[in-house]
Amino acid sequence: MIFGASGDLTARKLLPALYTLWKTRFLPDKSQIIGVARREKTDDEFRQEMFDACQQASRTGEISADEWAEFSANLYYKRVDLDDPEQFQKLKSDVESLEAKAGLSGRRLVYMATDPSLFLPSVTALSEAGMIPDHTDPNWLRVVFEKPFGHDLESAIELSSGLKSMLHEDQIYRIDHDLGKETVQNILLFRFGNSIFEPLLNRNHVDHIEITVAESQGMERGRGGYYDKSGALRDVLQNHVLQLLCLIAMEPPALFRGNEIRDEKLKVLQTLSPGASKIDDWAIAGQYTAAKVGNEDAKGYREEERIPPDSTRETFVAMEVAVDNWRWSGVPFYLRTGKRLPKRVSEIAIQFKHPPLNLFTTVECEGDICELVEARPNMLIFRIQPQEAISLKTSTKRPGMQYQIHPVTMDFKYSDEFVTGLPEAYERLLLDVLRGDSTLFTRSDELEAAWAFVDPVLKRWETEPDFQPEPYAAGTWGPKKAEELLSKDGREWRKPLTEKNG
Ligand code: BG6
Repeated sequence: MIFGASGDLTARKLLPALYTLWKTRFLPDKSQIIGVARREKTDDEFRQEMFDACQQASRTGEISADEWAEFSANLYYKRVDLDDPEQFQKLKSDVESLEAKAGLSGRRLVYMATDPSLFLPSVTALSEAGMIPDHTDPNWLRVVFEKPFGHDLESAIELSSGLKSMLHEDQIYRIDHDLGKETVQNILLFRFGNSIFEPLLNRNHVDHIEITVAESQGMERGRGGYYDKSGALRDVLQNHVLQLLCLIAMEPPALFRGNEIRDEKLKVLQTLSPGASKIDDWAIAGQYTAAKVGNEDAKGYREEERIPPDSTRETFVAMEVAVDNWRWSGVPFYLRTGKRLPKRVSEIAIQFKHPPLNLFTTVECEGDICELVEARPNMLIFRIQPQEAISLKTSTKRPGMQYQIHPVTMDFKYSDEFVTGLPEAYERLLLDVLRGDSTLFTRSDELEAAWAFVDPVLKRWETEPDFQPEPYAAGTWGPKKAEELLSKDGREWRKPLTEKNG
């Protein structure tokens, strides 16, 4: 059952993922998919909408009419007001009769793709309708929660404890769709499935680490209403960026199993500390302003649909944080995410220390101006999207009669190595819920540790009257203070996906 089936997520991600799982034979035979939402709609109308959505999302071209007919025979729509518990009795009997017709046992998955305010009321109504079996019962119910899971530490704890009175932790799947991305999963395999890199990933060799999750889009598809309540810190940094940080910084787990991996991620979150004593010196907020981006006149955030003209909501955040443990002590982690940046790109860049002696130099030119520069430090880059890759930047001798260094890149590009495309994050994650594997989902203690870390920043930005995010022009890499975060230490942000910086 998908609660919130009229929404954007159902059409753009969930149904296309379920269709692909069905087509590739990962979905159990006879599975029924039931869209649940408030709007009046017939099964056929829902099927047509979902056909259009799957067609639009399809990576493999047109969906054949025969295949769709077969798939959609098990696709239904039920109208339910999720905040009206009385309607759940009817939902229960409808679901039971569909199951009886198909000869299904009653193993159920509920995907909460709704407004977060409906999480607790919906689960309460499921519970009161007798739809939540004991977690040891073979007829299970698992519930997936879309983010945001809470809007600060206090509300996340409240939500968790409310849910725990009705659901066992094994039945709760808090989704962070970044963890379903192939390239994100590969971080652990690359680190712990090879022996030559891991000995270098520590304070002895690493100068600093940058994590960038940049988006070029603004408030398209009516997202303004949600975004202005959320902002970059809650929307992406607290979850996606901190999860990436955990994967790159964590210790090897004792076993490659859900809880052991999450134990290690939790330890990273518990050792996170601010990069400076005053919040404004380590956490920078920005907000985009109108500018020409390519040929397009991009609006400023305050001119976007459903955004108040005096909004102080941040559309960009940069942070300097420390992971205060034996391995990483003294290594700064610079994090940044934002909307309306020059490109959509997510990557982790590990910059190693300079060689101890500068024996070699090289000539670098920009236009007509050339200068003699020292070796660039080595860098290991995990490109999560687009042009998924892992690159290692090293120096080599430029052919010729002198010793001149030349930076080169050794690349592993997914598109060169694998002919099949990468699976969509939601395909993998939905399948994992069906399998009962919660490795790629966030545990409540992890989530609370992440909220605990960002909470003081949220409080500063939301409750102190003197706070204003620093403006940056749409299409640029964020406000000036974000640059200063690194330049004060003689460093600068990488410019991902530029010719020089591939
Ligand atoms: C979502 C955020 O979690 O991730 C969105 O709410 C953001 O604001 C999206 O656009 C980015 O996802 P992806 O998979 O395109 O990186």
